[in-house]
Amino acid sequence: MAPGLVETATEVTQAATKNLKATLKPTGNIHNYVPGRTTVKQHDETYKYEDLRPRFPDITWPALTPVEYHDKGLLGDANFKNLLSSATDVFDYNPKVGTEIHGVDLANLTDLQKNDLARLIATRGVVFFRDQKNFGIDEQRALGKYFGELHSHATTAMPRREGLEDVHVVFTGENSPDLRALFTPTFLWHSDVTYEEQPPSYTSLKVLSGPPRGGGGDTLWSSQYAAYDMLSPYMQKYLESLTAVHSADLQAQGTRELGRTVRREPVTTAHPLVRTNPVTGWKSLFFNPGFVTKIVGVPKTESDAIIALLNEIVATSPEVQVRFQWNEGDVAFWDNRVCNHSASYGFAPHRRHAVRVCCRAERPYLDPESKSQEDDLSEKHGIPKANKDGSGIVNYND
Ligand code: SIN
Repeated sequence: MAPGLVETATEVTQAATKNLKATLKPTGNIHNYVPGRTTVKQHDETYKYEDLRPRFPDITWPALTPVEYHDKGLLGDANFKNLLSSATDVFDYNPKVGTEIHGVDLANLTDLQKNDLARLIATRGVVFFRDQKNFGIDEQRALGKYFGELHSHATTAMPRREGLEDVHVVFTGENSPDLRALFTPTFLWHSDVTYEEQPPSYTSLKVLSGPPRGGGGDTLWSSQYAAYDMLSPYMQKYLESLTAVHSADLQAQGTRELGRTVRREPVTTAHPLVRTNPVTGWKSLFFNPGFVTKIVGVPKTESDAIIALLNEIVATSPEVQVRFQWNEGDVAFWDNRVCNHSASYGFAPHRRHAVRVCCRAERPYLDPESKSQEDDLSEKHGIPKANKDGSGIVNYND
């Protein structure tokens, strides 16, 4: 089945069940199961990923300068045949976003497979790979570099090991405070560093160490192709005429308040509120609750109302979202141009440690001739479009 196409609900359920069986091992807990209890791992004295623990060095960098970007997804096969030639299974999480592939070793891809991977990520928003044992940090960076110049984050943690300044470390561990009270759940939805002039495209996150199954720490993605498709044609046209301000100020302020060094001065950039993905040619919203501070050229009340509407769509529409339950060694690869994501908290006292690599992409642009995902799939595959006339017709009853 081609990604993006759901043929029947039964097929999807069968595929999902088969894969669930393949990936999730029995816990052996049946006779002593206690709801909500997770077993806290006793950590080894010597941690395997000691060199990838976080550090916040007191160094500074100059401002980023423009970089050429050639999207490898444009070279990918339309049916992803090179990538899928070694796959043992592939299935979509839902029609709009998220695909999982089994049997592919990310550490050993040919260039043709890498191009297909980029095209698939741009098409499906996020693609998941389980148990990538060979895909260490060096391989993860090498694959990121194939896609473009790696982005180095101005404030977040980098690994202890020297030479990995372009790796972002996610770490909640033994002594981390629970930060949930600081953020609203909506604010946690973001795409990475969108305040940059050339925000990232292909982004990989590998979980090195995490809560056991059932211990929490899932990540969610929300498709901005699908979010755009939720709007009325009138609202789509209106938003296409607008730009939004993305700001790094709050992130820099938070870093300074913690007594850490902001390595590059924070930037504020205006980007189109709707952009075209160069690989799929689809329009997507380019908005995120975390970094967009205002809509340009409209009264504040109107800017606030647009932001509130888009926050709600991004954060609360289950059919545009996918939620991934990690096992150690799993990798998620997303197109940061077309997806927001959010971590989920509440997994204390478990340790959660992940490393992220991303590359700088093109400056966002809107091609007015580009299509929406829904229009394109509807034309190609006859999938019905959403009813947006507000007539109150529903297909769900409870
Ligand atoms: C991120 O926000 O880039 C990391 C997401 C996660 O920790 O699940």
